[in-house]
Amino acid sequence: MGKPMVMGRRTFESLGGPLPGRRHIVLTRSPAWSAEGAEVARDKAQALALAGDVPEIAVVGGTEIFALFLPEADRVELTEVHFDAQGDTFMPSFDPDQWTETWREDHSAGDGHPAFSFVRLERRR
Ligand SMILES: NC(=O)c1ccc[n+]([C@@H]2O[C@H](COP(=O)([O-])OP(=O)(O)OC[C@H]3O[C@@H](n4cnc5c(N)ncnc54)[C@H](OP(=O)(O)O)[C@@H]3O)[C@@H](O)[C@H]2O)c1
Repeated sequence: MGKPMVMGRRTFESLGGPLPGRRHIVLTRSPAWSAEGAEVARDKAQALALAGDVPEIAVVGGTEIFALFLPEADRVELTEVHFDAQGDTFMPSFDPDQWTETWREDHSAGDGHPAFSFVRLERRR
């Protein structure tokens, strides 16, 4: 909340509309694309320039966008859902030589949702 978010065009469209309290910087290669609530960037440099001089940017996917920004990332906030599911969109794997788990909060299943954990990874320096 409050941090500029950077995302791919498909992730933005999957939200069903802008989320409150955050800027949405959306990467697309399409010159014609625009949407209410989206600040459009054509490449990584433009996305960073739009974000401006802020302490943190939240990169929220999908696959290509995670890969593009991972070299600059120093913290990963993951939600692990304890449920076996088929997937069609994937995060990069995190090399334990480069990333260390610094925080974990486990939540039980309930109200129709499976158990899940909030997990923080920080880049080893
Ligand atoms: N669970 C989660 O936390 C989470 C997080 C993120 C996404 N998702 C899900 O993942 C799916 C979307 O992810 P995705 O990987 O398919 O797509 P995506 O990364 O959100 O969007 C891909 C699009 O981003 C644009 N793009 C990618 N790299 C670019 C670059 N270097 N420069 C300029 N534009 C670039 C292109 O848009 P154009 O085709 O317009 O050129 C590309 O088609 C959705 O179903 C979403 O719900 C889930």
